[in-house]
Amino acid sequence: MSQMNRQWLLTARPTGMIGPEHFELVETPMPEPDLDEGEVLIKVLMLGFDPAMRGWVEDLPSYLPPVELGTPMRGSGVGQVIASHNEAMPVGTLVQGLTNWQEYCIGGGSSVMPMQPLPPGTAPGTALAAFGTTAFTAYFGLLDVGQPKQGETVLVSGAAGATGSFVAQIARIKGCKVIGIAGGPEKCQWLKDACHVDHAIDYKSENIDARLSEVCPEGIDVFFDNVGGATLETAIGHMREFGRIALCGGISGYNDTEPAAGPSNLMDLVKFRIRMQGFIVIDYMDRFPEAAAQLAQWIEAGELVWREDIQEGFENVPATLQRLFKGQNQGKQMLKLADPQP
Ligand SMILES: NC(=O)c1ccc[n+]([C@@H]2O[C@H](COP(=O)([O-])OP(=O)(O)OC[C@H]3O[C@@H](n4cnc5c(N)ncnc54)[C@H](OP(=O)(O)O)[C@@H]3O)[C@@H](O)[C@H]2O)c1
Repeated sequence: MSQMNRQWLLTARPTGMIGPEHFELVETPMPEPDLDEGEVLIKVLMLGFDPAMRGWVEDLPSYLPPVELGTPMRGSGVGQVIASHNEAMPVGTLVQGLTNWQEYCIGGGSSVMPMQPLPPGTAPGTALAAFGTTAFTAYFGLLDVGQPKQGETVLVSGAAGATGSFVAQIARIKGCKVIGIAGGPEKCQWLKDACHVDHAIDYKSENIDARLSEVCPEGIDVFFDNVGGATLETAIGHMREFGRIALCGGISGYNDTEPAAGPSNLMDLVKFRIRMQGFIVIDYMDRFPEAAAQLAQWIEAGELVWREDIQEGFENVPATLQRLFKGQNQGKQMLKLADPQP
């Protein structure tokens, strides 16, 4: 009997919280290894989860086309090449790219995120957490969009997450005063102990507005926002003249059924000449090697740490996505399918 490929298909477009009910687990024959030139057949080892997936299932114009109903859910992952028509990726190579929610995929052809071989010796979890899109988002969003200068004050929301924790640490490395906002005492303690932020604000038990007045009376020069909504409005009220707001995401509203009201204080951007700019990491794809090299240097120097939240069981894939929206993930959310073969 031919080997089967388990896949999670998108079967319904969610209203409100995304969950297992919007997907169906199916078994299809494994892709045939009669590959075109440049293609590789990949066994998926680890899936990475991104809040952006909630946007990818909406039937709305965006930076990527919506995932079609009845097709495997789009998602990044790490896999191992098991058949190859690509000299750069021989059998055995570990690769990273859009694997989608399935056990086997074809890579190496045209894709919005081409398959990239992992640097030798890199574990799948490390690749997704430290050399994947969330780390690159932090690097380019903070440095290119936020443009922090030594001695400035940087605020980051979603600070204990995959993206936010890299932002907080890169800002610290650049000589900034860093304030992180995260949910719960454990995440705030980790930000202080492991990421060495100057202050952590627990938005679940503390008043962000009052705490910002207390810990940065001088105001904020750069705000890196992962959360949006009320957090964004509060932060705008604490920005300094000529401050920069890097709009990375707005997870607080991703599962809302009605569009949230915008910040009521946008005139502050005019009064204090603040620049607020959204960005998408794939626009920086040709500079990913630059980010990877710099991140590797900081990791080697012991200046960057991260947490990997690795779930297991292919049947748990949609439920694992939901963990991001419930704040259950401790660092980069992933799910392991298999170990690499030597
Ligand atoms: N622009 C881009 O190119 C780009 C690329 C990657 C990611 N992003 C964005 O970056 C953000 C973080 O993504 P990530 O992959 O690094 O995920 P993550 O931060 O590792 O995980 C998501 C975190 O969001 C927080 N959260 C969930 N619901 C919330 C709510 N209602 N209010 C406040 N916080 C909430 C939770 O942390 P707490 O426990 O602290 O609440 C949760 O752990 C997302 O907005 C994502 O869309 C943007």
